[in-house]
Amino acid sequence: MAREKIVLAYSGGLDTSVAVKWINETYDMDVIAYTCDLGQGQDIHAIRDKALRTGAIEAIAEDARNLFIDYFVWPSLMAGALYEGKYPLATALGRPLIAQLMVRVAREHGATAVAHGCTGKGNDQVRFDVTFQTLAPDLKIVAPVREWKWTRTQELEFAAKHGIEVEATKKSIFSTDQNIWGRSIEAGILEDPWVAPPPETFQWTVAPEEAPDQAQEVEITFDQGRPVAIDGKEMDGVELIETANKIAGKHGVGRIDHIENRLVGIKSREIYEAPGAILLHHAHKELETLTLSKESDRFKTLVSQAYADLIYNGLWFSQLHQDLMAFTVSNQQYVSGTVRMRLYKGGMIVVGRKSPNSLYRHELATYEEGDQYDATAAMGFIKIHGLGQTTQAKHQLLNSKAGGPRLELPSIIPPDTTK
Ligand code: ARG
Repeated sequence: MAREKIVLAYSGGLDTSVAVKWINETYDMDVIAYTCDLGQGQDIHAIRDKALRTGAIEAIAEDARNLFIDYFVWPSLMAGALYEGKYPLATALGRPLIAQLMVRVAREHGATAVAHGCTGKGNDQVRFDVTFQTLAPDLKIVAPVREWKWTRTQELEFAAKHGIEVEATKKSIFSTDQNIWGRSIEAGILEDPWVAPPPETFQWTVAPEEAPDQAQEVEITFDQGRPVAIDGKEMDGVELIETANKIAGKHGVGRIDHIENRLVGIKSREIYEAPGAILLHHAHKELETLTLSKESDRFKTLVSQAYADLIYNGLWFSQLHQDLMAFTVSNQQYVSGTVRMRLYKGGMIVVGRKSPNSLYRHELATYEEGDQYDATAAMGFIKIHGLGQTTQAKHQLLNSKAGGPRLELPSIIPPDTTK
């Protein structure tokens, strides 16, 4: 009888290469290796060849960059999703898409299981597993690295015994993940939150002090919240993000050092490098200040946070997400226009913005000729606006008969009466 098949998310690295053989032995299954290009800058065909050399019965490599950008990256940008106000979520956005594509491959090949190389400590295992459980509850999930609990030496011994290629170059001193939206770097010396990340942490950004002495201005054009052009040149998503990465990276913009609250209860120190994402988020926010009403803009901060949390927590395929997406698309319908950013030595400021839908109205704001604002209406407005406060001051705060302010607050901790 033919062996059952399992689709493994294959990166070409040591863990997932060892996983191919480990699954063969431990689960007696045939492995189909799955690799997709999310803009991580690797040769996915070389990775596919390595999977076949390592013992996969089949290896699939495909370009998913446009799906990733259109369905994951742009919505997260439109939503203003930055986890804990800092992390543009590159890794977190990639996982549900990879898992969804693996489910498709599993169906096409009649596989009965799926596998990934995540450890048992991080968020990525959650994102993969929850997506598999949601889209294909019948598929068994195998997580070799989580299951084998080996030291690195034991893993290398297993690799040597099975003739698995270990890169000749020494393994990166960090644990990294990357796609077109950013790089995530952790572990090694970075585990000490007091230690500044050494230069080799970074690949896409220069150190601010090494950035050009000349500032650069860049114009980013958005259409209904989606970036469509840089410096007047229309680009597709891939070219646009690559261009943004280059420009911001060259000026040392986009380094993030984050003590982050993982879903699994631990704090971890993460370094991110996301020059394009940081530039685009900043510019997008500036365009919103011109085009969103005060109320929409303020309410949106709640949506941005909820959106970021659900992405981070692996709940992409949820009704809440669909609901927040509906809000976001509606909220972004007038967010069209161009923002001018100036980049200089690791910093970035907005210097100009314009939109055909601008709510900034010169005829209302001006102190010069052409003023249409009715200042006489201000006096009645101020009276009503302050009525609650003036009433309270008269009868409570500033009223000696009311006993003055009481500031001694009860403690939430009861006295220990058991002693
Ligand atoms: N902490 C980030 C997240 O949960 C990045 C994890 C990426 N993995 C890595 N090996 N650096 O999305």
